Amino acid sequence: MKSDFWDQRFGSDAYAYGVAPNTFLAETLPALVPLPADVIELGAGEGRNAVFFAEQGYRVTALDYSRAGIEKTQRLAASRGVAVETIHADVLRWRPERRWDAVLLSFLHLPPPARPALYRKIREILAPGGALVAEWFRPEQITEGHKSGGPPRLEMMVTEEELRAHFPEAGIRRLESVTRTLDEGAHHAGSAAVVRLVWQAPE
Ligand SMILES: C[S@@+](CC[C@H](N)C(=O)[O-])C[C@H]1O[C@@H](n2cnc3c(N)ncnc32)[C@H](O)[C@@H]1O
Repeated sequence: MKSDFWDQRFGSDAYAYGVAPNTFLAETLPALVPLPADVIELGAGEGRNAVFFAEQGYRVTALDYSRAGIEKTQRLAASRGVAVETIHADVLRWRPERRWDAVLLSFLHLPPPARPALYRKIREILAPGGALVAEWFRPEQITEGHKSGGPPRLEMMVTEEELRAHFPEAGIRRLESVTRTLDEGAHHAGSAAVVRLVWQAPE
């Protein structure tokens, strides 16, 4: 597991990306997936999104390969009086045995050879009619010189073209490249070039 980097980043008491949810996820999911519903975030980090959605009444699972991230997710959930199921696993090796009504991704950046398997897994774990809500940095985060965070290598970025190649057109509810301002703790702050996908599995 290449989780050492993340264990180190999450090693202090501070929450690297804050404790407020990703605003795109927070605005998008409730209109798309009504309660009650089962939701999983892959690469959930320190749990800011997972805990927020648990507070909204979703049954939430948070998966991450950083032990420190999982521990902080549990701590944040306990401090807010909600339950979040946590899975400590590398998403690429993980063998899920059930499905979810929604899959959330918030800046989960994997190397190019790993991404097709991630996209396939997302399609497999979505229940019929279930939704993926996802946001990543796109290549312009580097080429336009945005300083708000994200991986330093171009090949880790995600494009609309790549997403169109892996998610059937009929399910695409929203696919957009936007520049927005991040205010998510010390590591995501300032203008950012992002790509967003909302995709719905067939009924
Ligand atoms: C930029 S952080 C984002 C965390 C969280 N989604 C958020 O928005 O606050 C990326 C997260 O992905 C996790 N991650 C990266 N590769 C992973 C993998 N192969 N399996 C599981 N988690 C992974 C890291 O441990 C880290 O927590």
